[in-house]
Amino acid sequence: MKISLAKSSPLSQTNFTYGVATAAFQIEGAAESRRPCIWDKFCATPDKIKDSSNGLEACDHFNRWEQDLALIESLEVDAYRFSVSWPRVITHSGELDPKGVAFYVELLDALNQKNIKPYVTLYHWDLPQHLEDKGGWLNRETAYHFRDYVDLITQAFGDRVYSYSTLNEPFCSAYLGYELGIHAPGLKSKAFGKQAAHHLLLAHGLGMQVLAKNSPETLNGIVLNVSPCYPKTDSEKDKKAAWAADQNLNHWYAMPVLEGRYPESINTLPEEELPPIQQGDMAIICQPLDYLGLNYYTREVYEGVGHNDRQKWVDESLPFTEMGWEVYPLGLTDILLQLNNKYTLPPVYITENGAAMADSYAEGQVQDTDRIEYFQGHLQAVSDAAEQGVDIRGYFAWSLMDNFEWAEGYEKRFGIVYVDYDTQQRTIKASGLAYRDFISSRQLAK
Ligand code: NOJ
Repeated sequence: MKISLAKSSPLSQTNFTYGVATAAFQIEGAAESRRPCIWDKFCATPDKIKDSSNGLEACDHFNRWEQDLALIESLEVDAYRFSVSWPRVITHSGELDPKGVAFYVELLDALNQKNIKPYVTLYHWDLPQHLEDKGGWLNRETAYHFRDYVDLITQAFGDRVYSYSTLNEPFCSAYLGYELGIHAPGLKSKAFGKQAAHHLLLAHGLGMQVLAKNSPETLNGIVLNVSPCYPKTDSEKDKKAAWAADQNLNHWYAMPVLEGRYPESINTLPEEELPPIQQGDMAIICQPLDYLGLNYYTREVYEGVGHNDRQKWVDESLPFTEMGWEVYPLGLTDILLQLNNKYTLPPVYITENGAAMADSYAEGQVQDTDRIEYFQGHLQAVSDAAEQGVDIRGYFAWSLMDNFEWAEGYEKRFGIVYVDYDTQQRTIKASGLAYRDFISSRQLAK
């Protein structure tokens, strides 16, 4: 099975960027050569990770990066999105760790040498544990530590980077980590969720200010996870539930960074759950963005229950991924159009899209037709949004290779490259080959 789009599609043009994405904690391993982060501690806590695994070895990318880079090159992508492990590059006293920095500098140099654009995420969830010990994202100071880290690392990287994003999915850091407690650091309080979100947003704004100063030539932005939220029926109750979820998921982050204010649902929060906004914060948070990165996996459907509550509903007739997420490409077109109608958007990149599927490895191959279909449907959905006027410049498949899927451990495989964790052997899946052929056919069409 192939991936294909009409030749006339904006996504079929050679100036549209295609890439693959990863994140430090999920692939690097080599935990002994960095300081601990909140995910190390979370993984060491019983019953937090489904297969009781951790990120100590992961894909051992830290030691195998040259081989992985050859893989990336063989996929013929234009760009590679990866994250820097903050605890690898900054010491407890806040100085650069030369060994940690050297790892990324070598990787960046090699990427540039191969003409693969580095898209660098500065924070993909691995907060240094010593900062969590002082309150983590509940502590306003963490935002200033982030700023200092960004200042040092961007100077060290010099002109090697093509694009920076400050944060990856702050919704997940705040909501899953501090409100639901299903991600590190595992705290559970609604007030904590909003507090952490505000400090993450502040960190983003402070980080953008540093980037504007230290790295004005790179594309600088943020990566948000989005899902359109639909009501199950036309009832007022369901519509209200969907509206509240939409405010909480999509606009709680987009509106502050794009417009310098929280969405209307802030007025429904009890006093103790209000974000700790200090004078001037919203102006810091709202910095000009060179691009907005959006991660999309599925949609959400809500029904209103009880007095003022909501619950998710799923359409059993749709295909599902191994994560239990509906395969719903139309949702990607919808959310892109919704955001484009509501805001004045900078250029958009789809910084993550992909699926965990039940892969089976046999005779050196993984025939993941379901994942190819997923990519086909979602690339078409991005193309449809682009045709309808959304300025979309690039698409990154999640993920380059199977990796540590957070609380799900290693059982969920998102890679377009299969990883045998016993041998660390990599095998390009059928989806990886289809993605490669799709990208290169576009070049032939030139
Ligand atoms: C979003 C996160 O950025 C990434 O780390 C994760 O693996 C994927 N979603 C899949 O859940």
